[in-house]
Amino acid sequence: MRKVSFGRSKKIIFLVVAVGISGLSLFLFLYLSRFTLMPSSEKYVAFCDTDKTCHVKDLPYQNSTLPIEMRVDDLLLRMTTAEKIGQMALIEKNSILNQEDIAKYGLGAILSGAGAKPEPNTAEAWFQMIHAFQGYAKKTRLSIPIFYGVDANHGNGNVLGSTIFPHQIGLGATKNPSLVRDVAKATAEEVSAIGINWIFSPDLDVVQDIRWGRTYETFGSDPTIAGILGKAYIEGLQSYKQDGAKVSATAKHYIGNGSATWGSSSNKDFYIDQGDAKLSDAELRRTQLAPFTQAIKADVRSIMVGLNKWNGAKVIFNTYLLTDILRGELGFNGFVVSDWYGVYENEDNNYQALVQAINAGVDMVMLPFDYKTFSSRMHRALTNDDISQARVDEAVRRILTAKFKTGLFEVVPMDHLVEINTTKNRELARKAVRMSLVLLKNNKTVPISKYKSKIYVAGSSADNIGMQSGAWTIEWQGIDGNWIPGTTILNGIRNKVSSSTKVEFSLQADFAESSGLADVGIAVVGEHPYAEGWGDVENPQLSSEDLETIAKLNRVSKKIVVVIVSGRPLDIKEYVKDWDAVIAAWLPGSEGQGVADVLFGDYPFMGTLPVAWSL
Ligand code: BGC
Repeated sequence: MRKVSFGRSKKIIFLVVAVGISGLSLFLFLYLSRFTLMPSSEKYVAFCDTDKTCHVKDLPYQNSTLPIEMRVDDLLLRMTTAEKIGQMALIEKNSILNQEDIAKYGLGAILSGAGAKPEPNTAEAWFQMIHAFQGYAKKTRLSIPIFYGVDANHGNGNVLGSTIFPHQIGLGATKNPSLVRDVAKATAEEVSAIGINWIFSPDLDVVQDIRWGRTYETFGSDPTIAGILGKAYIEGLQSYKQDGAKVSATAKHYIGNGSATWGSSSNKDFYIDQGDAKLSDAELRRTQLAPFTQAIKADVRSIMVGLNKWNGAKVIFNTYLLTDILRGELGFNGFVVSDWYGVYENEDNNYQALVQAINAGVDMVMLPFDYKTFSSRMHRALTNDDISQARVDEAVRRILTAKFKTGLFEVVPMDHLVEINTTKNRELARKAVRMSLVLLKNNKTVPISKYKSKIYVAGSSADNIGMQSGAWTIEWQGIDGNWIPGTTILNGIRNKVSSSTKVEFSLQADFAESSGLADVGIAVVGEHPYAEGWGDVENPQLSSEDLETIAKLNRVSKKIVVVIVSGRPLDIKEYVKDWDAVIAAWLPGSEGQGVADVLFGDYPFMGTLPVAWSL
């Protein structure tokens, strides 16, 4: 008994001690875990720079071995409301009033709008500029890196010295997903070389009316092909990885601009761009949805909502499209970004417009100008409960997830510039040009023998890399002339023919009739660059100067070949009977040599029409 009673009291003492120790441990655990698990503004400061900028470090979200979901949970928990709002803002780089604001407002993303480049426009200056922006983001309490986005829609077109690939319509003519994957990967390499980690491509609009000025930005008019090529493009872009640096793609413009009707644009300067797609739910799905389904299968990290309307109402405010279909049906788990000023455009009440867009499903707003007002409106919306905290958390969770997937928290900042415009990329661009050419008519004239004795070349696009490249090249509306490195189609021809062949060039075919007929006349003609609604035209056709040049060339040549450099089919019905061969070269970019490769028979014509072209 004694033994028993002695044992019992020992047990009691043991229990008391054990409870005490556990209590103390629990207390210590809870106390210490405040520094690692719970949110608050100042408690987690672990170290400060010499300039007194303080950061946290060695926290779960910074640990690359943990699953992304866990890292996002951890980071979200630490963020203040202001920091969350900052992540939802996308600012045009020239609108940043003071670079310290990047840190002060915790801006989530910056873009270079078309043509917004550093001076001088060199890869080195881009590299320095973006690294400086990233530096401000790193200075913030939680060191959340920024997404830096650009429209690299045919290579890194903003940067002087980049390889310019064919515009998407040309890739659409190749119908070759493996080539498209390679082109996208090379584009990722060229943007990543200068610190860009986000691209606003591919364009997955499915064009129904070639009068639309953005026809060339698409893969064409077939939703299935646009889906296959779009998926390949995203895979290529997002599979690139170099020293931890990766790139995220954006599928755009969700949804319907490709089906907009002529004259429906609310932008008074345009006819169809940013217009209204007047069609049933079933028709919208049939014509425009498939590419986005494929993009989501490729795990695209962001989707951009268009500036257009669907049956009279702006898509950007449409919960059914942005949430029910995109999230519910298609299972998209990346983030939705609005297009340029899209949340506000044409709206009388900007506060209400912002609330509506965020509640409909926009996660990041391409403001792109005024982040201060955005921040105060978002605070107001949360205070008034017009936007819930849960909605903001959801948006920020998606943005952060994309940042983690892009490896932004792991990238070791490079201290040197990686080479751009490599021989490998230029060769790939040349191959893409070759594969995109479509032979529209051939009266036993092409391929042309390299051994002809005299060839005349003429036309507005023959000696003009700017026209070959189209818009989104250095400037939004493109450039005219030979300002970027590359090979003109004229030089491509000169490089290709035999040493005994005489190639003569005259812009407007001012060849003296007295010097005898050329064996072949090659007219290289086409559209001058245009971007967005500025390219909306009622009857896309050749200019009267180009038509006159072709006619003059025809008079001095035994045979005539017309190479059309354009973003879409042009109306040539009236004239084509007088021409021996016609080739659609689309907008081939910097590597005009690819045109000559096929014209002179080193490679076969392989492209097929991405959009209907009636002759
Ligand atoms: C275009 C988008 C582009 C954005 C950013 C807008 O005007 O519609 O396609 O990504 O500008 O440059």
